[in-house]
Amino acid sequence: MTIKDIITVPDETLKKISEPIVNFGESEKKLIRDLFETMYNSKGIGLAAVQVGVLKRILVIDISSKDEKKNPMSFINPVIRKLSSETSVYEEGCLSIPDTFIEIERPKTCEVEYIDFDGKKKIFKCEGLLSTCIQHEINHLDGKLIIDNLSKLKRDFIIKKVSKVKKNPDRILV
Ligand code: NI
Repeated sequence: MTIKDIITVPDETLKKISEPIVNFGESEKKLIRDLFETMYNSKGIGLAAVQVGVLKRILVIDISSKDEKKNPMSFINPVIRKLSSETSVYEEGCLSIPDTFIEIERPKTCEVEYIDFDGKKKIFKCEGLLSTCIQHEINHLDGKLIIDNLSKLKRDFIIKKVSKVKKNPDRILV
């Protein structure tokens, strides 16, 4: 396994739309292992392939806390099938936007269709932190970042000088 370099704003690759995987094989499995290695190394709970510069629709997530057993989950070609109207709010960070946390409201539950590590089609329902995390990562596959809904002024400010903020237990890094 290899720890890859995570690309950060304003790298234009982060705005690109990732391509679906047509044939899921060994090179994609290697990429997934590298994504986990890279994510764990950066203390994140989610990482999309585009964040290491690979425009493939693959993402990895592990929301287990450091005292718990690891729970790695990988999603190939994830597609959101359902979103709840009920929402939840988390203060989200992003490994591609260092030291920046933004409160974001998203659907509280979601249903995702995807291919798993064994190449099988699956449907996954989740809520809360996991739901937020998956939505954040799927946004990456579509070239969207958590700063996109801010005013240009704020966005430019963040890109130029990422704010230093105190640690908060509700903050997540994805
Ligand atoms: Ni992110």
